[in-house]
Amino acid sequence: MKKNKISKNWINKQRRDIYVKKSKIEGYRSRAVYKLEEINTKFKIFSNGSKIIDLGAAPGSWSQYISKKVKNNKTIAIDLNEMEKIENITTVKGDFTHETIQLKIIQLLGMKVDVILSDMAVNTTGNKDLDSIQTGELCLQAMAFSKKYLSSNGKFISKIFMGSSFNEIVKTGKEYFKEVKVFKPKSSRKDSKENFIICRYLR
Ligand SMILES: C[S@@+](CC[C@H](N)C(=O)[O-])C[C@H]1O[C@@H](n2cnc3c(N)ncnc32)[C@H](O)[C@@H]1O
Repeated sequence: MKKNKISKNWINKQRRDIYVKKSKIEGYRSRAVYKLEEINTKFKIFSNGSKIIDLGAAPGSWSQYISKKVKNNKTIAIDLNEMEKIENITTVKGDFTHETIQLKIIQLLGMKVDVILSDMAVNTTGNKDLDSIQTGELCLQAMAFSKKYLSSNGKFISKIFMGSSFNEIVKTGKEYFKEVKVFKPKSSRKDSKENFIICRYLR
C-alpha cells in the first residue's frame, strides 16, 4: 500500500475511534491511556507512594494517568521527544538505551523501583517484521534494566508485538520473574499485533 494511502486510512480510523474521542473529552494526550487503565484494572499495578518509571512516555497519557490516579507517586518519564510538563512527574529527554540516561534515571529515583512501564516503540518502517523485532529489542533492554533496579515485588509491563521475538521475550521474562502474563487490552486496535507483557515478582 502506498504511504499516503496508509496515512489516509490512519486518519479515517482515528476519526471513527471511540477511544480517540474519549481521550479528547477526558483531557488525555493519547488514546494509549485506556490500555494502561485496562492493565491496571486487571492486574492492580499501582499503589499509593509507588516509585514508577515510564519509558517511551511521550506525548504523556500514561504519565497523566499516573499523576491523577496514584497518590504520592514518584515518577520519572523518559522519551526521545520533548514532553509537555505533567504535575508530579519528572521528565527526562533522551534515549533509554544509553547507559548515561539509565544512570540518570536511577540517580533521580534511587534503587528499588516499584513499577517499570515501557510503551516504547520505534518509528514504524512499514515492514511489520522489522518493526516488531526492533520494538522487541527495546522491550528486552527494558526487562534487563528492570531485573537490576526493581524491588523484589516490583512489576514490569511492556508493549510487545506478536512476531519473531515474542518467544524470546516470554522466555527471558520467565527467567527473570516468577509470574509472566500476556494481555491484549480491548482498547488496543484489533488489527494491530500489539500486546502487553506483565511480569511480577523477581526471581
Ligand atoms: C506509543 S508512544 C508512547 C505513548 C505514551 N505511552 C503515551 O501514553 O502517551 C512510543 C514512544 O516511545 C518512544 N521511544 C522509542 N524509542 C525510545 C528510546 N530508545 N528511548 C526513549 N523513548 C523511546 C518514542 O519516542 C514514542 O514517543
